[in-house]
Amino acid sequence: MTEPQTTTQATAPRSLRLGLVGYGRMGRMVHTVAQERGHRVTAVIDPHAPGATAPALTPELAGQVDAVIDFSAPATARDNILFYGRSGIPAVVGTTGWYDQLSAIQAELAGQPAAIVWSGNFSIGVRLFTRLAAQAAALFAPFADYDALLHEFHHAGKADSPSGTALQLAQAVQSEWPRQPQLETGRLDRQRRPQELHLSSTRGGHIPGTHTLIFDSPADTVELTHRARTREGFAAGAVQAAEWLAGGRRGLFTLDELLDDVFAAQMGTGASPQPKHKPSPDTAARKR
Ligand SMILES: NC(=O)c1ccc[n+]([C@@H]2O[C@H](COP(=O)([O-])OP(=O)(O)OC[C@H]3O[C@@H](n4cnc5c(N)ncnc54)[C@H](OP(=O)(O)O)[C@@H]3O)[C@@H](O)[C@H]2O)c1
Repeated sequence: MTEPQTTTQATAPRSLRLGLVGYGRMGRMVHTVAQERGHRVTAVIDPHAPGATAPALTPELAGQVDAVIDFSAPATARDNILFYGRSGIPAVVGTTGWYDQLSAIQAELAGQPAAIVWSGNFSIGVRLFTRLAAQAAALFAPFADYDALLHEFHHAGKADSPSGTALQLAQAVQSEWPRQPQLETGRLDRQRRPQELHLSSTRGGHIPGTHTLIFDSPADTVELTHRARTREGFAAGAVQAAEWLAGGRRGLFTLDELLDDVFAAQMGTGASPQPKHKPSPDTAARKR
């Protein structure tokens, strides 16, 4: 790997035995990143992929791994998460498309030895960018000359628009930007209403994902942009989440709690994070 990776400071990586559940594009990328960070992949669960050690989850997995990283398929996400939670296997869940079942899963895992971090976007850069966007909105909010807008670019093959990440970004901005509370993501054949925040999308080429937040006034333009280069950022964040969980944490966490832990360590508070059930950008996204 040639690019530097974002590294959390609260983690003290030891060599982990990792299980990969789902060995498609993300699973293979996680494999590479995990090895580069000194971990061993001791199980690969996938129904068809070459290199898989088993086609499905079995109880024996608990003795083979210190944690699993799941980038598989929405259809089996709920069963997989319940399996991890009940068996106490620390799990990082990157698989998307199951968030409407989050409350039911939380209820089913009450009292179980679950140790799970889930996120619809494991890029630490994106999570930090989202926080930065909210802080920027808070800074600009008192100055009525500024109008806010959002734009995102993705490759021609992306099936949905706007991206889930863009929706999370909009929600973070709007939490600090009361004068444009209505999100408009469609084409406008009219003037934009003052209370609308317009989020537009462009599809083309091979762009892995670019998100831009703009504050514009009659005098100037301020642009904040996150530009992903590859899927490697998702894999790196997922492996760091596994390292974080392997410290012995129990609960159902999002990437935000991991970041809070990093900041607490940096501030010297050392407060151990508890699973939060406040709406994070992740939990808010599932409601959309
Ligand atoms: N959170 C993030 O940061 C992030 C980033 C990128 C992608 N994702 C999500 O991660 C998931 C996987 O993405 P991908 O691009 O890697 O997809 P992919 O290339 O299609 O890979 C998924 C793999 O999982 C296998 N699989 C299906 N059901 C399984 C099960 N029950 N147990 C084990 N393996 C199973 C699939 O096998 P078959 O093909 O034989 O079904 C396939 O090999 C998607 O939900 C995607 O939205 C999340």
